[in-house]
Amino acid sequence: MGGEAGMGGLQFDPEVSRKTEAMYTTSDMVEQRRIVRVALALRPGDRVLDVGVGPGLLAAEMAEEVGPTGRICGIDISDSMLAIARTRAGAGPGIELEAASVMRIPHPAESFDVVVSTQVFEYVDDVAGALDEVHRVLRPAGRVVLLDTDWASVVWRSSDDARMARVLTAFEDHLADPHLPRTLADGLAKSGFMLTHQQVVPLLNTGYDNRTYSAGLIDIVSGFVPGHGGVTADEARAWAADLRSLGAGYFFSLNRYLVVASAL
Ligand SMILES: C[S@@+](CC[C@H](N)C(=O)[O-])C[C@H]1O[C@@H](n2cnc3c(N)ncnc32)[C@H](O)[C@@H]1O
Repeated sequence: MGGEAGMGGLQFDPEVSRKTEAMYTTSDMVEQRRIVRVALALRPGDRVLDVGVGPGLLAAEMAEEVGPTGRICGIDISDSMLAIARTRAGAGPGIELEAASVMRIPHPAESFDVVVSTQVFEYVDDVAGALDEVHRVLRPAGRVVLLDTDWASVVWRSSDDARMARVLTAFEDHLADPHLPRTLADGLAKSGFMLTHQQVVPLLNTGYDNRTYSAGLIDIVSGFVPGHGGVTADEARAWAADLRSLGAGYFFSLNRYLVVASAL
């Protein structure tokens, strides 16, 4: 497809894709995927589409659950992410990966029992159009499971609260909608879905540790924000150094919101 995700937002180029994969192997993300898989409640033989499959960690786990009679398809607009996913998913049975956008899913109507998309819709400009596409490829009564972050929920300790606020505001530019969860249930209803479950999926990192999700996020944020909202490269570097220096006093918390809905 030749494209990288996020027009003007976060570019999932080879470096960001590699860093994202590393963050997604932390125990924080292992736990998040466990919660997503509980909500998915997959059965052997299910046909599943993973929209914005990213590094393919969830796809590989789902392949185990649907077994050889099931089908896992993954689409993504980032060639770098697909390359990483191929190394992982290529080995597993029944995983098909394709370069495509949620705006044009390359599958016929009613091809899937379940569609899952974690931390992808927040990057999408036309969420209503994307939900219509998901509805088209789901069989009647098929399920969609979506998980997105609301960045208003972030609590991140800093020695300089004003700088933290500037950096976080600048980082909101990395998404099409940094507050998507609060409108997603409405959007699903308008696209012909019936809501069946909603929950908060919180993240908490206390005490600085390189092996956590938010330690990886510091790198992604400080790489992205220079040039956004008036934040300079020096300011971003100082922001990151401050967080890493907090040691045992480090504190980070952020909420994802998970929603399950059924196609009417
Ligand atoms: C933060 S990553 C999440 C990856 C994966 N879903 C996970 O949770 O491990 C966001 C992914 O969404 C993809 N993406 C963004 N916009 C997309 C679109 N319009 N269609 C398909 N994938 C998209 C990006 O390329 C990237 O791989």
